[in-house]
Amino acid sequence: MSCPVRRTSEGQDSEQLGEEDGMLYGEYLMLDKILGAQRLLSEQNNQSVHDEHLFIVTHQAYELWFKQIIYELDSIRGIFSDVLEESQTLEILKRLNRVVLILKVLVDQVMILETMTPLDFMDFRCYLRPASGFQSLQFRLLENKLGVRQENRVKYNQNYSKVFGHDSQAISEIEKSEQQPSLTDLVQRWLERTPGLELEGFNFWGKYQKAVERLLQEQRTLAEQEASESLKRYKLNDLDKRREVYESIFSLEVHEALLARGERRFSHKALQGAIMITFYRDEPRFSQPHQILTLLMDIDSLITKWRYNHVLMVQRMIGSSQLGTGGSSGYQYLRSTLSDRYKVFVDLFNLSTFLIPRSYIPPLTTSMRSHLCNWAQPITT
Ligand code: HEM
Repeated sequence: MSCPVRRTSEGQDSEQLGEEDGMLYGEYLMLDKILGAQRLLSEQNNQSVHDEHLFIVTHQAYELWFKQIIYELDSIRGIFSDVLEESQTLEILKRLNRVVLILKVLVDQVMILETMTPLDFMDFRCYLRPASGFQSLQFRLLENKLGVRQENRVKYNQNYSKVFGHDSQAISEIEKSEQQPSLTDLVQRWLERTPGLELEGFNFWGKYQKAVERLLQEQRTLAEQEASESLKRYKLNDLDKRREVYESIFSLEVHEALLARGERRFSHKALQGAIMITFYRDEPRFSQPHQILTLLMDIDSLITKWRYNHVLMVQRMIGSSQLGTGGSSGYQYLRSTLSDRYKVFVDLFNLSTFLIPRSYIPPLTTSMRSHLCNWAQPITT
């Protein structure tokens, strides 16, 4: 593309429109295609409805941003699928941050469509049927590439690929996205290699278990000294519950049962890595990994916020008992997708359950500290 405004040798702007070789702005961006793609069905039916234009442009803007997010996710998954070099974590951070910023725009964009009133929407809704966002191929690819698993979808949604009918290209893309390692899978593999987890080395997990044991023991001693019998009982009960919670990560059996029920997603080792990174995030080599974990949670948060804003908009537009144009129960179906089942990094959110006060965090040994400071040493040991 040539820049239509060029500087002359005297440093003044001169208009060179059309005089240089190469593509112009509109050609490069194929604006004829993009700007020619707003076909108002109400207009075609000689019942022109002003707001249908906004409805179409909003959906198209979403789809374009979905495309960019998928593009970034594919590249991030590509980097993660090799053994991650530390020099690449900055690039991952940059791209994850970009995804986060796009999602923020998408969450806010709902407000623009909400300037349309339900009566305005009613004027052209009849032309849409059976079209629905439920048929958005890119939204499903995005979910699958992030790691939403078929078995975790709500029942109605488990048949989502049916809507692509005989579109073999869409079906093949969906199948690929279901089979290829998702971002969650790749992040798990990366976390499992967190240095310091080795039993013969720093043995973080062993040390952490001892620290938790000490914490619970000390709190029990304090609770037993409580003068008030009811308060003592309350505190001891609470401690028993805390012990059970910790047991859910220390006992491999309990962990596997939670995995089977879909309440936990990460492998036991990946969970250990995530906890370790969270504790020692101030060490130079854990700082970027910790930022990655934070951005992954941001992505989950923002998609949940988008789902929530979309549900509210749907209720505002069609109420809570009309069917959707795609055939679902509408508001009721969408509300059911707000649960943790759709959060792919739910384990990162739940890490806070297992934190211990700073003073109980196992101190780093000299060699572990130098390992986490020394950029020359490979992070995967
Ligand atoms: C007036 C505005 C809108 C209304 C009333 C509306 C309504 C609905 C309804 C009722 C569904 C459930 C499926 C069905 O039976 O149709 C749905 C799903 C969906 N809509 Fe919208 N929608 C609106 C705007 C948007 C916008 C702007 C987007 C942006 C792309 C969008 C994307 C989606 C997606 C991705 C789904 C599938 C969600 C899932 O299955 O988890 N919708 N919509």
